[in-house]
Amino acid sequence: MSTQRARDLFVTGLRNAHAMERQGEQLMERQSERLAGFPEVQDKIRDHLQQTRQQLRRLEGCLEACGESPSTVKDMVMSFMGNLAAMGHAMAGDEVLKHTLANYAFEHYEIAAYKSLLALAAPAGISESITPLRASLQEEEEMAKWIEDHVQDVTLAHLTKAERAHATANERWP
Ligand SMILES: [Fe+2]
Repeated sequence: MSTQRARDLFVTGLRNAHAMERQGEQLMERQSERLAGFPEVQDKIRDHLQQTRQQLRRLEGCLEACGESPSTVKDMVMSFMGNLAAMGHAMAGDEVLKHTLANYAFEHYEIAAYKSLLALAAPAGISESITPLRASLQEEEEMAKWIEDHVQDVTLAHLTKAERAHATANERWP
C-alpha cells in the first residue's frame, strides 16, 4: 500500500473519529444533566466528557500533522451514532440503563476506531500521531471497563429506586 493511500485512509479515519467524539460529547452532555439520581455514574460521565474534549483536541492535532486544517473538519452524523442519540432522547423510566448499555457499545466503537487509526499511523508516515492516539485508546478502554464493572450495580440500583418509587406511590394512593 502506498503511503499516499494510507495517508488518505488515515485522514478519513481521523475525520470520522472526530465526528464520533463530537457525537459522544453531545450524548454525554445530555446524559450528565439527566442522571442526578445516580451520582457515581454522573461523575464518571462528567470525567469522561472532559477526556472526550481532550480527545477531540488530539484528533485535531493529528489532522494538523497530516497538513489538514481542523477547521475544515465537517462532522457528519453516522447512523449508528444517530441511533444511540435517539436512545439518549428516550424518556423511559429505565433511562439510566439505556444510557449505560448504549455507552458500553459506544466505547467499544471508539476502541475499534482508535485501533484502526493506530494501524494506519505508521504506514501513513505520521508516526507522531501514535502517542496521542494511544492515550485516547487507553481512556476509552478504561471507560469501557468501568461500565463493564458497574453495569450490574447500576441495574440493581435502578431496581431499588423503581421499587421504592412504586411503594411510595402505593402509600399515597392505596
Ligand atoms: Fe469514549
